[in-house]
Amino acid sequence: MSLMSWIDERFPATKVWNEHLAQYYAPKNFNSWYFFGSLAMLVLVNQILTGVWLAMAYKPDANLAFASVEYIMRDMDYGWLIRYMHSTGASAFFIVVYLHMFRGLMYGSYRKPRELLWIIGLVIYLAMMATAFFGYLLPWGQMSYWGAQVIVNLFSAVPFIGDDLSLWIRGDYVISDATLNRFFALHFLLPFILAALVFIHIVALHKVGSNNPDGIEIKKGPKGNRWSDTAPADGIPFHPYYSVKDIFGVGMFLIFFAAVIFFIPDMHGLFLEAPNFEPANPLKTPPHIAPVWYFTPFYAMLRAVPPMFNSQFPGVIVMFASILIMFFLPWLDRSPVKSIRYKGPLFKIALAIFAVTFIVLAYLGMHPATPTKTMLARIFTGVYFAFFLLMPLYSKIDKTKPVPERVTK
Ligand code: HEM
Repeated sequence: MSLMSWIDERFPATKVWNEHLAQYYAPKNFNSWYFFGSLAMLVLVNQILTGVWLAMAYKPDANLAFASVEYIMRDMDYGWLIRYMHSTGASAFFIVVYLHMFRGLMYGSYRKPRELLWIIGLVIYLAMMATAFFGYLLPWGQMSYWGAQVIVNLFSAVPFIGDDLSLWIRGDYVISDATLNRFFALHFLLPFILAALVFIHIVALHKVGSNNPDGIEIKKGPKGNRWSDTAPADGIPFHPYYSVKDIFGVGMFLIFFAAVIFFIPDMHGLFLEAPNFEPANPLKTPPHIAPVWYFTPFYAMLRAVPPMFNSQFPGVIVMFASILIMFFLPWLDRSPVKSIRYKGPLFKIALAIFAVTFIVLAYLGMHPATPTKTMLARIFTGVYFAFFLLMPLYSKIDKTKPVPERVTK
């Protein structure tokens, strides 16, 4: 008896391999936008491996944290490389996931039957944001400290329970050693929860099957291809076709990733902010506090909303609403077609404006508020919400093109 059949009698190794790789039929027309799912998995693995490595030398103690990071950067063998792989990796993770989500918006991948896949994706996105937020406190630099102070203080704006809530999160009246210790514990834990969520994401994906750039359900089309009589005619085995394609994507990604790590690891203050190279000082507030770029669109929306009765609560609501609204997307899109290829001009214009809006809000959130910038932030916050709230209208009246029977090349 071969080793493989010995294992298969005890563990469904070949069965899982076939069902999810060698005999898993994915649409044959994936384009480069389909690289980002596998790249997100790669970056998650990179974050976990480099993170565990950093944790071996990092000290989650307010008196030692900053110096332990300096030790990693200067004295530990290849410590600088591991730290930059992790800090640049965090930004890479968000770039990859934003592109992954944008692909979903373009091809209507959030629509029936993939609503739950999209929702699981958004839960992943929330977990990623929490992970990044906890992680940013750990180097215990000025921006770590004051950024966390600003964000945790937002919870104080919640009526009635706010002060107790922020006290409970911090474990102290200000960000302190107690906060650092618990943020470290949570930052270590969350990536494993992320990995579990990604597993669930893939289980959901394989239940319904991938969408594709034409937005056609290949499972509903004709059956039979050169590998199987029952498989969708427009499907090809994931392995070797897409495993090889994804490896090409990995190669391209690593070229960019290595270039950034070796030449501009801090991206001129975008990935690692300048004040974070100074140790945290509770007595000295930096002149301008801003989160890292991937949070700034939401930060801009928070600041755009004027306080009511001296409370920032309305801004906090708008900020959380800007993410919650994405959960409703599958039911807001009323177009008879899924993919942007067959949607009309209204959807194309709306999506283009939305992408520009997200970038403009990110820019505004990075810079100190001025009257002009605040006005712009208000306008673009309105545009951001209009993309979602007006979608039932413009997606319905839009002039769509006929969808072909079979996927195109
Ligand atoms: C750690 C983060 C994530 C990982 C590792 C991940 C992984 C994957 C993988 C491997 C695929 C299949 C390959 C592909 O279609 O590109 C996929 C598909 C998908 N993901 Fe994610 N994902 C992540 C986050 C998200 C987020 C934040 C969303 C949206 C909110 C999302 C929504 C989707 C959708 C809708 C599909 C199906 C796309 C289609 O078939 O056209 N994912 N994901």
